[in-house]
Amino acid sequence: MKMKVSILLNVLLAIVVVVLAVKTFMAGSSGNTNPAIENMITRTSVRAYEAKAVEDAKVEQMLRAAMSAPTAINKQPWDFVIVDDPAKLKELADSLSNAKMAAGAPLAIVVCGNMQKAIEGEGRDNWIADASAATENLLLAAHSLGLGAVWTGVYPSAHRVDVIRDVLELPGYVVPLSLVPIGYPAENPQPKDKWKPENVHRNGWSAAY
Ligand SMILES: Cc1cc2nc3c(=O)[nH]c(=O)nc-3n(C[C@H](O)[C@H](O)[C@H](O)COP(=O)(O)O)c2cc1C
Repeated sequence: MKMKVSILLNVLLAIVVVVLAVKTFMAGSSGNTNPAIENMITRTSVRAYEAKAVEDAKVEQMLRAAMSAPTAINKQPWDFVIVDDPAKLKELADSLSNAKMAAGAPLAIVVCGNMQKAIEGEGRDNWIADASAATENLLLAAHSLGLGAVWTGVYPSAHRVDVIRDVLELPGYVVPLSLVPIGYPAENPQPKDKWKPENVHRNGWSAAY
């Protein structure tokens, strides 16, 4: 009898261990089996970083991902400024109340629109969509490489544009759109569930998803 109880207890213990192991494995996962979609759904803004440099190979991978974004008539009207000088990161953080976390990051990438490469005339503002697509690709690449990052908004704030132009000595035809601090995460924020079927319409406004 005693033997049976001990076998039963061992089986129960094994079940608890397996359940806990599966839960731990799934933490931060949406359960999606498509790796690209899983990466999108589990991305979240990270604003605290370890004091550890980001490898050059990873920086290049992120830039390659950013530059693979679609752009209107394939203009690619952008430039990217890598900021890994701690003094510059601090200077930016000190002057930008929305980007204080840059002071604690080993790296930031500033995504800029370049008006010399942008569409002329009515289509010019497409540079904003193009640089935004690049910024999102950058964030997704960072996440997939085990890094944490956050989009801090620059354009259309004239003050933030001026600060970044000044600190990074950008020419007047270059407009910084976003400043993205990046590093190994020192916090583990949970991704937000933003799935709202009520935001989806079918074949017009009135029909629901
Ligand atoms: C255009 C834009 C501007 C943003 N600006 C800032 C910012 O200045 N500072 C900041 O901490 N986060 C900023 N964010 C990040 C948002 O706060 C964040 O994406 C949002 O709260 C949703 O959280 P999630 O990224 O974790 O899903 C910005 C995001 C976007 C898309």
